[in-house]
Amino acid sequence: MSETTSAIKHVASPLARQTLLDGDLTTPVAGKKPIRVLPWLQVVKIGGRSIMDRGSDAILPIVAELRALLPEHRMLILTGAGVRARHLYSVGLDLGLPVGSLQPLAASEAGQNGHILALLLAPDGVSYVEHSTIASQLAIHLSAARAVVGSAFPPYHHHEFPTARIPPHRADAGAFLVADALGAAGLTIVEDVDGVYSADPNGPTGTEATFLPEISSADLGRQEGTLPFDRALLEIMDNARHIERVQVVNGRVPGRLTAALRGEHVGTIVHTGARQA
Ligand SMILES: Nc1ncnc2c1ncn2[C@@H]1O[C@H](COP(=O)(O)OP(=O)(O)OP(=O)(O)O)[C@@H](O)[C@H]1O
Ligand SMILES: [Mg+2]
Repeated sequence: MSETTSAIKHVASPLARQTLLDGDLTTPVAGKKPIRVLPWLQVVKIGGRSIMDRGSDAILPIVAELRALLPEHRMLILTGAGVRARHLYSVGLDLGLPVGSLQPLAASEAGQNGHILALLLAPDGVSYVEHSTIASQLAIHLSAARAVVGSAFPPYHHHEFPTARIPPHRADAGAFLVADALGAAGLTIVEDVDGVYSADPNGPTGTEATFLPEISSADLGRQEGTLPFDRALLEIMDNARHIERVQVVNGRVPGRLTAALRGEHVGTIVHTGARQA
């Protein structure tokens, strides 16, 4: 074989001829911090159950707050799925549908909530965009408008992890993954409680639940019981690259979302594993 033929066949790259499974070999190449693609972007996740399912009483004040924030921030507003997805899971599970089939169906319920929110913000130039647009055309859309709305679910479809029958990566995990991948300025999760508590404040032991103003994802992982976001998010936060903190705020209290986006400590701040470069 001539030198020329051989040179064509071998792409010059530090990883060309080695296994990608050996950390000692990949770390010098892959250990660098990724760039921030959209460092000015604020990602806001609006709860499906906690906000959207409540109808106008809860939605309209949030819409007014988002509208007032448009001159200050460029936002990717992502909506959760809410009660329709719970119904869908129960029917789908009864029929034996696999997790990878339930995942996009629930994602479309989250998308429906996004469509509703986008219609209410349409006079301000906000529209709903699909996953593929978020993946590859977010920059151009946010050059034309101050915000866009999408489904918070990750577009996993049959790639969803089969670790549980209900998709483990739902709206909160999806919102964090996209915020961290884009190197966004922040992620705010809007709920109907003041933040994260030691136990569900609306549960049977709610009166004993204590409010947690600040905690790390690692410490939250050691806390048993429920959370106001997907448990899968804890491990994702532990391995974050950019998003150093997630703020969980009460969207039923006017001004909390605005305060969070202005950097004030309202609600719960969850510190992730990401470190400043
Ligand atoms: N440790 C906890 N701290 C605070 N709230 C909790 C906790 N555990 C459970 N919750 C409950 O979580 C509720 C919010 O539910 P959930 O997170 O399912 O809604 P959502 O985020 O609006 O839904 P979706 O995932 O569809 O967007 C709160 O009203 C609260 O009762
Ligand atoms: Mg929630």
